[in-house]
Amino acid sequence: MNLSSHDTSQAKNHESICRMNLDANDFRKAMGSFATGVTVITVDQEGEVHGMTANAFTAVSLDPVLVLVCVDHRARTHAHLHARKRFGVNILRKDQQTISDYYARSAETHQHPEAAGANFDRTAQGTPVLQGALAYLECRLYSAQPAGDHTIFIAEVEEVVVRDGEPLLFFRSRYHDI
Ligand SMILES: Cc1cc2nc3c(=O)[nH]c(=O)nc-3n(C[C@H](O)[C@H](O)[C@H](O)COP(=O)(O)O)c2cc1C
Repeated sequence: MNLSSHDTSQAKNHESICRMNLDANDFRKAMGSFATGVTVITVDQEGEVHGMTANAFTAVSLDPVLVLVCVDHRARTHAHLHARKRFGVNILRKDQQTISDYYARSAETHQHPEAAGANFDRTAQGTPVLQGALAYLECRLYSAQPAGDHTIFIAEVEEVVVRDGEPLLFFRSRYHDI
Protein backbone atom coordinates (compact mmCIF):
# COMPACT_ATOMS: atom_id res chain seq x y z
CA MET A 1 0.00 0.00 0.00
CA ASN A 2 1.24 3.50 -0.95
CA LEU A 3 0.82 6.24 1.62
CA SER A 4 1.36 9.90 0.81
CA SER A 5 3.52 11.79 3.32
CA HIS A 6 0.31 13.24 4.82
CA ASP A 7 -1.24 9.75 5.12
CA THR A 8 2.00 8.38 6.56
CA SER A 9 2.10 10.96 9.32
CA GLN A 10 -1.61 10.35 10.00
CA ALA A 11 -0.95 6.60 10.23
CA LYS A 12 1.96 7.23 12.58
CA ASN A 13 -0.19 9.52 14.73
CA HIS A 14 -2.93 6.90 14.84
CA GLU A 15 -0.44 4.24 15.88
CA SER A 16 1.00 6.33 18.68
CA ILE A 17 -2.48 7.27 19.89
CA CYS A 18 -3.41 3.57 20.01
CA ARG A 19 -0.24 2.79 21.91
CA MET A 20 -0.82 5.63 24.35
CA ASN A 21 -4.40 4.47 24.92
CA LEU A 22 -3.49 0.84 25.42
CA ASP A 23 -3.29 0.45 29.16
CA ALA A 24 -2.75 -2.82 30.99
CA ASN A 25 -6.42 -3.18 31.98
CA ASP A 26 -7.63 -2.83 28.39
CA PHE A 27 -5.09 -5.42 27.31
CA ARG A 28 -6.19 -7.78 30.11
CA LYS A 29 -9.85 -7.28 29.16
CA ALA A 30 -9.14 -8.03 25.50
CA MET A 31 -7.13 -11.15 26.33
CA GLY A 32 -9.76 -12.21 28.87
CA SER A 33 -12.17 -12.51 25.93
CA PHE A 34 -10.08 -15.40 24.66
CA ALA A 35 -11.56 -18.39 26.53
CA THR A 36 -8.99 -20.94 27.65
CA GLY A 37 -8.67 -24.11 29.64
CA VAL A 38 -6.82 -24.03 32.94
CA THR A 39 -3.66 -25.95 33.80
CA VAL A 40 -1.53 -26.48 36.87
CA ILE A 41 2.19 -26.60 36.07
CA THR A 42 3.89 -29.01 38.47
CA VAL A 43 7.60 -29.15 39.24
CA ASP A 44 9.54 -31.32 41.64
CA GLN A 45 11.33 -29.08 44.07
CA GLU A 46 13.71 -31.19 46.16
CA GLY A 47 11.06 -33.82 46.80
CA GLU A 48 8.23 -31.33 47.36
CA VAL A 49 5.48 -30.54 44.84
CA HIS A 50 5.50 -26.99 43.49
CA GLY A 51 2.38 -26.05 41.53
CA MET A 52 1.29 -22.95 39.60
CA THR A 53 -2.01 -22.24 37.86
CA ALA A 54 -1.45 -21.20 34.23
CA ASN A 55 -3.58 -20.59 31.16
CA ALA A 56 -0.86 -19.10 28.90
CA PHE A 57 -0.32 -22.59 27.54
CA THR A 58 -0.51 -23.84 23.97
CA ALA A 59 0.71 -26.43 21.51
CA VAL A 60 3.67 -25.30 19.36
CA SER A 61 4.83 -28.13 17.09
CA LEU A 62 4.00 -31.73 16.13
CA ASP A 63 7.48 -32.77 15.01
CA PRO A 64 9.02 -32.61 17.50
CA VAL A 65 6.05 -32.45 19.87
CA LEU A 66 6.40 -29.08 21.60
CA VAL A 67 4.23 -27.00 23.90
CA LEU A 68 4.80 -23.64 25.55
CA VAL A 69 3.87 -21.94 28.77
CA CYS A 70 4.51 -18.26 29.58
CA VAL A 71 5.62 -17.61 33.17
CA ASP A 72 5.94 -14.30 34.96
CA HIS A 73 9.52 -13.53 36.05
CA ARG A 74 8.22 -12.87 39.58
CA ALA A 75 6.64 -16.32 39.94
CA ARG A 76 8.60 -18.84 41.98
CA THR A 77 7.85 -21.36 39.26
CA HIS A 78 10.09 -19.33 36.94
CA ALA A 79 13.25 -20.23 38.89
CA HIS A 80 12.07 -23.81 39.48
CA LEU A 81 11.57 -24.45 35.74
CA HIS A 82 15.03 -23.10 34.95
CA ALA A 83 16.56 -25.25 37.69
CA ARG A 84 14.66 -28.53 37.17
CA LYS A 85 14.26 -28.31 33.36
CA ARG A 86 11.33 -30.71 33.58
CA PHE A 87 7.71 -30.15 34.50
CA GLY A 88 4.19 -31.50 34.20
CA VAL A 89 1.16 -29.79 32.65
CA ASN A 90 -2.09 -30.89 34.30
CA ILE A 91 -5.22 -29.83 32.38
CA LEU A 92 -7.96 -29.30 34.94
CA ARG A 93 -11.36 -30.93 34.96
CA LYS A 94 -14.46 -28.80 35.49
CA ASP A 95 -14.72 -29.78 39.19
CA GLN A 96 -11.11 -28.73 39.96
CA GLN A 97 -11.67 -24.99 40.38
CA THR A 98 -10.58 -25.09 44.04
CA ILE A 99 -7.25 -26.52 42.89
CA SER A 100 -6.88 -23.72 40.32
CA ASP A 101 -7.50 -21.09 43.03
CA TYR A 102 -5.12 -22.84 45.42
CA TYR A 103 -2.19 -22.83 42.97
CA ALA A 104 -2.89 -19.26 41.84
CA ARG A 105 -2.04 -18.13 45.40
CA SER A 106 1.39 -17.52 46.84
CA ALA A 107 3.40 -20.67 47.61
CA GLU A 108 3.60 -19.75 51.33
CA THR A 109 -0.06 -20.72 51.57
CA HIS A 110 0.54 -24.12 49.96
CA GLN A 111 0.47 -26.05 53.22
CA HIS A 112 -2.54 -28.31 52.68
CA PRO A 113 -3.01 -29.24 49.03
CA GLU A 114 -5.22 -32.23 50.02
CA ALA A 115 -7.72 -29.79 51.58
CA ALA A 116 -8.07 -28.19 48.11
CA GLY A 117 -8.53 -31.67 46.59
CA ALA A 118 -4.99 -31.84 45.16
CA ASN A 119 -3.26 -35.21 45.50
CA PHE A 120 -0.23 -36.22 43.46
CA ASP A 121 1.42 -39.26 41.99
CA ARG A 122 4.96 -39.20 40.49
CA THR A 123 6.06 -40.16 37.01
CA ALA A 124 9.14 -42.32 36.41
CA GLN A 125 11.02 -39.00 36.01
CA GLY A 126 9.82 -37.84 39.44
CA THR A 127 7.47 -35.15 38.10
CA PRO A 128 4.32 -34.60 40.20
CA VAL A 129 1.08 -35.60 38.43
CA LEU A 130 -2.22 -34.24 39.71
CA GLN A 131 -4.71 -37.03 40.33
CA GLY A 132 -7.99 -36.73 38.42
CA ALA A 133 -6.85 -34.08 35.91
CA LEU A 134 -8.39 -34.28 32.45
CA ALA A 135 -4.99 -34.71 30.82
CA TYR A 136 -1.33 -34.77 31.83
CA LEU A 137 1.76 -33.92 29.74
CA GLU A 138 5.28 -34.83 30.89
CA CYS A 139 7.54 -32.05 29.59
CA ARG A 140 11.31 -31.64 29.22
CA LEU A 141 12.60 -28.11 28.76
CA TYR A 142 13.61 -27.38 25.14
CA SER A 143 14.23 -23.62 25.24
CA ALA A 144 13.50 -20.59 27.38
CA GLN A 145 12.95 -17.26 25.64
CA PRO A 146 12.63 -14.09 27.75
CA ALA A 147 9.71 -11.99 26.47
CA GLY A 148 8.97 -8.77 28.36
CA ASP A 149 8.13 -9.53 31.98
CA HIS A 150 7.51 -13.23 31.20
CA THR A 151 9.59 -16.11 29.86
CA ILE A 152 8.27 -18.44 27.17
CA PHE A 153 9.22 -21.95 28.29
CA ILE A 154 9.06 -24.32 25.31
CA ALA A 155 9.16 -28.00 26.19
CA GLU A 156 9.23 -31.35 24.46
CA VAL A 157 6.34 -33.60 25.46
CA GLU A 158 7.58 -37.07 26.41
CA GLU A 159 4.39 -38.69 27.63
CA VAL A 160 0.69 -37.95 27.91
CA VAL A 161 -2.27 -39.26 29.88
CA VAL A 162 -5.82 -38.41 28.76
CA ARG A 163 -8.96 -39.13 30.79
CA ASP A 164 -12.68 -38.81 30.10
CA GLY A 165 -14.46 -35.76 31.45
CA GLU A 166 -15.08 -32.09 30.80
CA PRO A 167 -12.64 -29.16 31.16
CA LEU A 168 -12.56 -26.21 33.51
CA LEU A 169 -12.74 -23.04 31.38
CA PHE A 170 -11.59 -19.48 32.12
CA PHE A 171 -13.26 -16.53 30.40
CA ARG A 172 -13.32 -12.84 31.43
CA SER A 173 -11.81 -13.55 34.87
CA ARG A 174 -14.36 -16.23 35.74
CA TYR A 175 -14.54 -19.99 35.63
CA HIS A 176 -17.06 -21.67 33.34
CA ASP A 177 -17.87 -25.11 32.09
CA ILE A 178 -18.90 -26.14 28.60
C1 LIG B 1 -6.77 -18.79 35.65
C2 LIG B 1 -5.36 -18.30 35.95
C3 LIG B 1 -4.39 -18.40 34.98
C4 LIG B 1 -3.07 -17.96 35.22
N1 LIG B 1 -2.14 -18.09 34.23
C5 LIG B 1 -0.85 -17.71 34.45
C6 LIG B 1 0.13 -17.90 33.43
O1 LIG B 1 -0.15 -18.42 32.35
N2 LIG B 1 1.41 -17.50 33.69
C7 LIG B 1 1.76 -16.94 34.91
O2 LIG B 1 2.94 -16.60 35.08
N3 LIG B 1 0.85 -16.77 35.89
C8 LIG B 1 -0.45 -17.16 35.71
N4 LIG B 1 -1.39 -17.01 36.70
C9 LIG B 1 -0.98 -16.45 37.99
C10 LIG B 1 -0.20 -17.46 38.85
O3 LIG B 1 -0.95 -18.66 39.04
C11 LIG B 1 0.10 -16.85 40.25
O4 LIG B 1 0.84 -15.65 40.08
C12 LIG B 1 0.85 -17.81 41.17
O5 LIG B 1 0.73 -17.33 42.51
C13 LIG B 1 2.33 -17.94 40.88
O6 LIG B 1 2.82 -18.95 41.75
P1 LIG B 1 4.35 -19.14 42.12
O7 LIG B 1 4.91 -17.79 42.59
O8 LIG B 1 4.34 -20.17 43.21
O9 LIG B 1 5.05 -19.63 40.90
C14 LIG B 1 -2.72 -17.43 36.48
C15 LIG B 1 -3.72 -17.35 37.48
C16 LIG B 1 -5.02 -17.78 37.21
C17 LIG B 1 -6.08 -17.70 38.30
